[in-house]
Parts: sequence; C-alpha cells; structure tokens
Amino acid sequence: MNKLAIYLSTLSLTAVGLTAPRAAEVEFLHWWTSKGEQHAMDVLTQHLEKHDIQLAPKPVLGGGGDSAMTVLQARALAGNPPSFAQIEGPSIRAWDAIGILHDMNSVAKAHQWDATLYPLSQQINQSANGYVALPLTLHRLNWLWVNHQLLSELNQPVPTTWQAMFTVMEQAKAQGINPLAVGEQPWQIAQLFENLVIATGGVDFYTRAMVDLDPGSIDSDTLRAALAQFRRLSLLIDNTLPNTRWDTATKALASNQALFQLGGDWILGDLVAKGVEVPNQIGCYPAPESDDVFLYNMDSLIFMVSKSFTKDQANHVANVLADPEFQAQFNLRKGSIPVRTDIALTDFNPCQIKAYQAFKKGVAQNKAVPSMIDSMAVNPVAQQAINSEIFRFYRNKSLTEERLIKRIIAIAESH
Ligand code: GAL
Repeated sequence: MNKLAIYLSTLSLTAVGLTAPRAAEVEFLHWWTSKGEQHAMDVLTQHLEKHDIQLAPKPVLGGGGDSAMTVLQARALAGNPPSFAQIEGPSIRAWDAIGILHDMNSVAKAHQWDATLYPLSQQINQSANGYVALPLTLHRLNWLWVNHQLLSELNQPVPTTWQAMFTVMEQAKAQGINPLAVGEQPWQIAQLFENLVIATGGVDFYTRAMVDLDPGSIDSDTLRAALAQFRRLSLLIDNTLPNTRWDTATKALASNQALFQLGGDWILGDLVAKGVEVPNQIGCYPAPESDDVFLYNMDSLIFMVSKSFTKDQANHVANVLADPEFQAQFNLRKGSIPVRTDIALTDFNPCQIKAYQAFKKGVAQNKAVPSMIDSMAVNPVAQQAINSEIFRFYRNKSLTEERLIKRIIAIAESH
C-alpha cells in the first residue's frame, strides 16, 4: 500500500477514534487464575503487546467472579477503576447506568457487530446507550465431565438420568472412589442445584423459578422435588475440603481421584492446559436430563472512564480485542465457543464442537438459557444471596426445604 493510502487509512481510523497515542499501561481486572484461564490470558497479553499495549493484569482469586466484582466496586467507589474489567450479564447494564463506562459503539461499527455477533451477544452487551461492553466468550455450563478409566472400572455406562447418576455415584463411593469432584464454594454448589432444577422441571420451569424468580414456581412441588434430589446429593458427597477451588476439583478428576465433575467448559480449558486427552481420557457429556439444553454464561469486557483511560485509549484497546483471530485463539484455549458467527471452529476441541452444536440447537428450540448462579440472569446481590442460601442448605443437613423456599422468595421479593 503506498504512503498516501496508509496516511488516509490512518486518518479514517483516527476519525472514529480507533487509533490513539500508545496507552502507557492498561489495567485489566479479572478472575482468570487457573492453569487453563492463564493459558488463555497469555493469548490476550501477547495480542495486546503486538499492538504496543502493555497489560497490567489485576487478577482476583475466586472462580465465578464474586470476589472480583467486590474489588471492582470498591475501586470504582474510590475513583480508581481499572482500565477494563471482566464482567457478565445484567451487571453490564448496572455499571452503564452509573455512567462509568466508555461505550463501544465506534468499535461495534468498525467491526460490524450488528452483523457478526450472535443476537444473544448483541442483547447481553447493549444498553439504551448502544454497545457498552465487548463480548469475548460463550461458555456452556450443563456439562458432565467423566473419568472414563474409573467409569469402566465400575463397568457402568455414562449416566443420562439422575437416577442412573446416583446409582453409579453410590457404587463409586462404596468402592472408595470420590463420586463427584466439586469445590465447596456457594457458586459451585449452587450450580449443582441449577442442573437439578433443569433436570426436574425442564427449561421453562427453570426460567420461571430461577430467572424470573416467580414465587409461585419457587414454592412448588417441582422445586421441592429438585431440592429432595439436591439433599440426596449433599448426603452422598461428603467433601471435607471446604472452599476448594473449581480447578482443584478438576485436578482430582484428571488424576483419577474422582469419577465426575459437573460444570462449565472452563473445565475443558484447564484439562487441555494440563495435557489431558479430551474427550478420550476425560469425556464431556450433557449433565443428566439436559441433553438439548444450552445453559450459558458469557464473559464480556467493560472499559471504564477515568482520567488515565480516555475514550480514545478505550477504543484503541477494544478495537484490538475485537479482532476475530484473537477471539478465536482465546476461546480455543478458554474451552468456550466464540460469541460471533464469523469464527470457524477449526482446531477447536470436539467438546467445543459439541457445545457449538448444542448452542445452535438450543437457540432453535428456545432451550438456550442464562445461568442464574453464574451472573447471567438476576442482579448480583440477589444472585449471591440465593447462592449462599442454597450453599447453607447443602452444608447444614438439618435445614428444611421449606426454609430455603421461603428464603429464596424473600430475596426475590426484596430485589
Ligand atoms: C465464570 C467465568 C468463566 C470462568 C469461571 C470459573 O464466571 O465466566 O470464564 O472464569 O467463572 O472461574
């Protein structure tokens, strides 16, 4: 390209504020601290460096993001927000409503997001001010991860119903095998319950009870049936390691110390980063009785207004991170699928291909639903309060279903 053309193209990008003086250093607050998440973060860091942007990562320990969101709120209140931050779901609009986000409309226009993003990605990342966040990953949560060696030792098939799941887990436990690797943290334990609600009542019931928080659906025989299964599960898994991180559970699954793990495909990212053969050694299957459901969460990035991070700098960084090739490489390592239609899944793991197919089918059948426990459906205060109540019921075997139902309704009605 001749000098004039280069100059004109620079002018056009400058006109929409997509090139800017090199950002000295950009702070990124996130909770991607496991081996697989770090493996994906390496791609993000290197991609920014290729564009002369120096990243100052600010990781906050705690899968699921509760702790990271607390730190983000504290920093924003202190007038010292990071340049950009990992965020999920309705929180995006909440942050936008206080006027602290750089909008992404220039980047959206330059990258034709109205045409390239899935409608779901468009909806989650827009407010009345247009695009206010940059979508990055689409995770499926209703996965059952299976240690094939241990399952074959039990001479059992992969369970497709919860009855079969309980049977093989009870058999495993009787033979001294940990039936289910799970971290004893509210969001992880609540995710088990979320899967049981879908299995017991189906996605429409799940949406009414857990997304809409409809009191009549919460105070129902169907939810009581899900709670009975959840109590049975709490009695079966007697984890003695409180506050275990999700990736510690994944390590147990990968090292033949546990038969199953239920959770999102960030688990795939960790397994692949550990060199585990997926799906041969550890297989990926729909959580029991959720075959055609796509229970999702989406990671997005918000860019925050401050004296040290101008709109031009935000546009410059976001423009770099909107690059489809970068997004392809990031999702490949993260275990998620892209948030947009224009990225081929070449080289992606077979489990990611299965997730993509499940997503397409879920959208077509209206069975792609947001995860309430993982920040995609209700405001974070109600979500964390409900997760804590579910966790309390799980750990204290004397607490009744009636008490939990009343507590969830009280939280729903006060938020
Ligand atoms: C989710 C997030 C994933 C992964 C997971 C475990 O909330 O969307 O990207 O970080 O937590 O930490």
